[in-house]
Amino acid sequence: MATGDDLLKRIISHSKEYGFVFPSSEIYDGLSATYDYGQYGAELKKNIREYWWKSMVQLNDNIVGIDAAIFMHPTTWKASGHVDAFNDPLIDNKDSKKRYRADVLLEDYMEKIRIQKIQKEVTKAESRFGENFDKEMFVKTNPRVVGYQEKIDEVSSKMRDLLASDNLGGLKKLIEELGIVCPISGTSNWTDVRQFNLMFSTELGSTTDDASKIYLRPETCQGIFVNFLNVQKTGRMKIPFGIAQTGKAFRNEIVARQFIFRMREFEQMEMQFFVKPGEEMAWYEYWKESRMKWHNALGMGEENYRIHDHIKLAHYANAACDIEFDFPMGFKELEGIHSRTDFDLKSHEEASGKKLQYFDPVENKNYIPYVIETSIGLDRMFLAVLSSSLCEEKLEDGSERTVLRIPAPLAPVKCAILPLLKKDGLPEKGTEILNELRYDFNLQYDEKDAIGKRYRRQDAIGTPYCVTVDHQTLEDNTVTLRERDSMTQIRVSVSELKSTLNAKTNMNVLLAKL
Ligand code: GAP
Repeated sequence: MATGDDLLKRIISHSKEYGFVFPSSEIYDGLSATYDYGQYGAELKKNIREYWWKSMVQLNDNIVGIDAAIFMHPTTWKASGHVDAFNDPLIDNKDSKKRYRADVLLEDYMEKIRIQKIQKEVTKAESRFGENFDKEMFVKTNPRVVGYQEKIDEVSSKMRDLLASDNLGGLKKLIEELGIVCPISGTSNWTDVRQFNLMFSTELGSTTDDASKIYLRPETCQGIFVNFLNVQKTGRMKIPFGIAQTGKAFRNEIVARQFIFRMREFEQMEMQFFVKPGEEMAWYEYWKESRMKWHNALGMGEENYRIHDHIKLAHYANAACDIEFDFPMGFKELEGIHSRTDFDLKSHEEASGKKLQYFDPVENKNYIPYVIETSIGLDRMFLAVLSSSLCEEKLEDGSERTVLRIPAPLAPVKCAILPLLKKDGLPEKGTEILNELRYDFNLQYDEKDAIGKRYRRQDAIGTPYCVTVDHQTLEDNTVTLRERDSMTQIRVSVSELKSTLNAKTNMNVLLAKL
């Protein structure tokens, strides 16, 4: 199976060929970093969202879900800090007129050392030492590799310091010192670095004065913060409690690339958990563990996840980490877990003049709760599922198949009903089974082409089961049930189909593991 860039390319082409993800408005040559989900993509996305929602809202007595508007009062974004500080450092190349994120140019520089220098040394040594090669030891002790790694660490640490201190001049100097050139023009004729706000703005109503300027939300959680009191009071919620929400968020990303990993319009699934000040660290650990359990229940390989604890914290956070996933581009952020103190509620209290406090009947006092946030990108989760499930296999008979080993409860289509022949009453029997099961499962009926070809079509969209209706079905009401991953076929009675499919594909299979 392909890896790295090749795997990403395979995922992109497979997604398009099989109706998962299309470039947005493709007939007009697309719109950069914007994608549309096709017929199977929309189902997969809905299932991931449902898995998240049910695990949060249905399985927790003290978490409720809301659906806040995308447009919010503009003061929201002043209070949250987004108007002043939701920026990326930009730099332009004067020759190519291309615009880059200064930190991404530096990241790419480091990645180049990793791939072109370190990886090259590793591959060379691997072929020299063969089976006895100890990669971990080699990377730790080989003087050349150690030197390259030291260079990466030095650049990384300088970059983080410069970003943290908002030292834009320093960033430009570092880019120049490292001899980084524009990939298009090949020159280092750079402009100064300047900050660029990532929020999209638009006008409310028909006036165009500044007072009517509003933003498309860059994160969903502010809709939760501003509704904190509404939900707490109407739901008579007692601390600790959480508010969950899924929905679109918009960021004018400068470097939007790597397919649906970084988009300008994307979907988040966020939960804010309100706790008593002083208890936030215990809850932070709880949610870290709970979210890892959610991921691992999918069976996409525990080795594909790792936790990256933030050393340098945002000024309002007292702990933060990312759950990273091994995407085709390497380990990258999939989800963030943040202990955000009382920063957001306090800021909204100050900006709105409304008290956003909780009366604790046990303590007999008011306080602003602290918040633990879990925030995952739905599109990134979608990419994680595709990355871990796309397989190209050589079969015993020498043929090949492409199969999406999507966790069965997330699969877009749960079962395909396939009459062996388009005659002898088999289509009618197939339709009868379809009509019996369609209230419980998303099914597909297919009577076109040879059965092998139909199996391949279902493999390619990740359908966990295929039911084949043949002449024996007409005699004893049994069908062949074919399982996607093992390709094993068993004979089952039509009356057992519902319970068999339920046992494997129902969302509860996942939820029961949490
Ligand atoms: N409320 C906190 C927050 O928004 P974040 O780390 O900026 O935190 C949370 O975003 C998650 O949203 C990320 O872990 C990622 O999965 C997803 N995300 C952020 N920007 C994205 C983008 N441009 N495209 C796709 N997903 C994105």
